[in-house]
Amino acid sequence: MKIMIQELGFFEAVNQRRSVRIFDQNEPFDRDIVRKCLEAAILSPNSSNLQLYNFIRVPENSPLKDSLSSLCMNQKAATTARELIVVVTRRDLWKSRALANYKYIKGIYEGKPDKKSKQALSYYGVLIPKLYGKYPGWSLLKKIIAWWIGMKKPMVREVGETDVRISVHKSAALAAMTFMLGMKAAGYDTCPMEGIDSKRIKKLLDLPDPSEICMVIGCGKGLPEGTYGARFRIPYQELVFEK
Ligand SMILES: Cc1cc2nc3c(=O)[nH]c(=O)nc-3n(C[C@H](O)[C@H](O)[C@H](O)COP(=O)(O)O)c2cc1C
Repeated sequence: MKIMIQELGFFEAVNQRRSVRIFDQNEPFDRDIVRKCLEAAILSPNSSNLQLYNFIRVPENSPLKDSLSSLCMNQKAATTARELIVVVTRRDLWKSRALANYKYIKGIYEGKPDKKSKQALSYYGVLIPKLYGKYPGWSLLKKIIAWWIGMKKPMVREVGETDVRISVHKSAALAAMTFMLGMKAAGYDTCPMEGIDSKRIKKLLDLPDPSEICMVIGCGKGLPEGTYGARFRIPYQELVFEK
């Protein structure tokens, strides 16, 4: 269904976005807008441009919607959502994504690789495999190597397996944020949820074992009673510092 919307500007969308927990069941819901916002989401910055995520769309008419809502602990933000988006991290796809980047760069600079493109090729061909490769004891060894190099010069410290997982989740969360702001700009509301049974959701959606759930996002047109209270934020001076 095509719905005419007056899109909000960036700061209007940021200011008006709230986590909305009850969605209207009667308003028409335009799934094309969800697609548009997911297309915007995948333009988000992401670590090494590996794009290690999937977004699983579960609309209200999906046979999985009720089960998924119950695995979001029956939160109203899920049960009343017109569509649920499951943001999934795919650390396991690093090889194919590194190769895609490698081939892309090689394609652009075919025949005439300059210094910059050679660096980029080495990044995806040598450095990324070192960071993302998984071998027994490798995580600890990477941390020791980083510590050793870091004794003499500035060095990236977040190289262990947990750091890599966090990095993948950071990128997924940034994409989720772009999606939610896009939805607000387009006239819809969202609620991110981490109060979920991630293990059962993986099983329900038949996700590969190494994948992880970053969050589930409920979507729809929010009802006024779905916004729980006025917005509260710690004052700027307590959060932002200048040095
Ligand atoms: C990663 C993440 C997980 C969240 N999980 C839940 C959740 O499970 N249930 C819920 O009602 N709200 C959840 N929220 C929403 C927060 O409670 C909300 O963003 C916060 O209270 C600020 O309110 P606002 O989004 O309306 O500005 C989550 C938010 C984030 C970023």
